[in-house]
Amino acid sequence: MDAQTKQLVQDSWTQVEPIADVAATLFYDRLFTLDPALRPLFPATDLGEQKKKLMQTLTIAVRSLDRLDQLVPALETLGRRHAGYGVQDAHYHTVGQALLWTLEQGLGDAFTPAVHDAWEETYGLVASVMQHAAAQVTAGSAPALAA
Ligand code: HEM
Repeated sequence: MDAQTKQLVQDSWTQVEPIADVAATLFYDRLFTLDPALRPLFPATDLGEQKKKLMQTLTIAVRSLDRLDQLVPALETLGRRHAGYGVQDAHYHTVGQALLWTLEQGLGDAFTPAVHDAWEETYGLVASVMQHAAAQVTAGSAPALAA
């Protein structure tokens, strides 16, 4: 990831942070509209808490793009936990679509093609690290509950 991509993601995220609650609500509404079959994955979940966790994690991830050596192991652990939640590979694509759509709503004109591409690359990186770690769990080569 080059410096400009990181900068575009980090700068645009600072515009989303003040409206994190609204953005998270838009995100989950969009996600469950794109694929209603995902809703049952969150059975006992307090969606209010879940929204906060998602936004906090994205904030940490965006800030950590300069320290990929620290970010990657944390994402691998998160990906392994997601395998335990019943999340499948294809779900990451839908989540990515919902995220990009949410950013478009939140940023308006500031969601330029360059910002779109920077987020697509960043989400792709985050998702692929999580997916790779999850695949090792399902293949039985890593502990499912590694913390
Ligand atoms: C960038 C990708 C993602 C991030 C940053 C993320 C972040 C999080 C966080 C922080 C949690 C809280 C629990 C924990 O830390 O283990 C969580 C839980 C969860 N996530 Fe994700 N997630 C991502 C992708 C996905 C995808 C693709 C799905 C599929 C629909 C998904 C479904 C869930 C579910 C079902 C839970 C458990 C809710 C519960 O019952 O408590 N996540 N996620």
